[in-house]
Amino acid sequence: MFARSIVRTVGAQARQNGKKMVFDAARNAVAMRQPAAQVAARALALQAAQREVKVPSNNYYDGLSSHYHMFQQNWDDLVTKEREAFNDFFEGENVKKVLDASCGSGEQAIALAGLGLNVTACDPSGGLVKRCAENAAHFGVDKNVRAQQSDFLNLSKDFKGELGTFDAVITKGSSLPHLHTNNDLRQALTNFHDLLRPGGVVNIGVRDYDYFINSNQKIYPRQVRVGSKFEGKEHIIFDVWEWHKGSEDQQLVNFNTFHVDGEGAGHTASKYVTTFRALFRKEMEQLMAEAGFVDIKVSKIHDWLWENVYTARRPL
Ligand SMILES: C[S@@+](CC[C@H](N)C(=O)[O-])C[C@H]1O[C@@H](n2cnc3c(N)ncnc32)[C@H](O)[C@@H]1O
Repeated sequence: MFARSIVRTVGAQARQNGKKMVFDAARNAVAMRQPAAQVAARALALQAAQREVKVPSNNYYDGLSSHYHMFQQNWDDLVTKEREAFNDFFEGENVKKVLDASCGSGEQAIALAGLGLNVTACDPSGGLVKRCAENAAHFGVDKNVRAQQSDFLNLSKDFKGELGTFDAVITKGSSLPHLHTNNDLRQALTNFHDLLRPGGVVNIGVRDYDYFINSNQKIYPRQVRVGSKFEGKEHIIFDVWEWHKGSEDQQLVNFNTFHVDGEGAGHTASKYVTTFRALFRKEMEQLMAEAGFVDIKVSKIHDWLWENVYTARRPL
């Protein structure tokens, strides 16, 4: 109801302003706001050393990177919660060197660095890698974070000199379902496996699609942000989900993410689209076993509904 009324309001305002709103992924580039001009020197230096990484979701995340932090109610609090959860998970595992395979803006990488761990933080989105480096500096843990562009399918190539050296590989925030086919998922999981030392552990968060496929909800409100912290503007963010089948009959779901922002009578709406595999628990467990993992377990953090956490280890 909430999101529907927002759409109506924005539509009415757009008509009132005589502007045609085109919610079209191809035009997202025009609608995208660029990251803040003032980028930390360290982040720029990191960027310079990176190969260009192209994955289908880059338009979505690069477009959202400058306001990605608004997606969470309290980003700092989340970093603290992530830190506690990892601390518990790593107990007795002798973890020192960790790969975050989809760092985004650094929520988990910073939590891990805060535990004194040596973190390699990767993401295909250049915009988010920059954000991660800036956030690490903001939290005073940049010495422990190596941020660079890479993607799930190329990790073993990009870090070929470090195969078998990571104590842990993590990917949180339901990033893995950006891969759609069984082959790609198996390849990514095999890369995680090969980068780990024998006995090393993985920790993979995947949205609980067994729950969501049975829910009739189509519109998911994310955040309403207002005030000086947000450039004095109103920001309204919500998703419209569309379920559909892929070429292997696998279940996919499009996220149409709307970001409406502005002040007074003038608001702009941008739409960013990305597609996820609705990766069900049975499929995930099987793919992990096929990649060679053992001790596969599934849990939830603090009974948090939306994410399943899959943990496992590379055999000794
Ligand atoms: C929902 S965000 C989660 C980011 C972060 N882990 C968090 O929890 O905030 C999903 C992330 O997956 C990354 N991603 C998309 N496709 C990917 C791929 N093929 N390989 C690695 N990461 C990918 C995106 O760039 C994005 O940063």
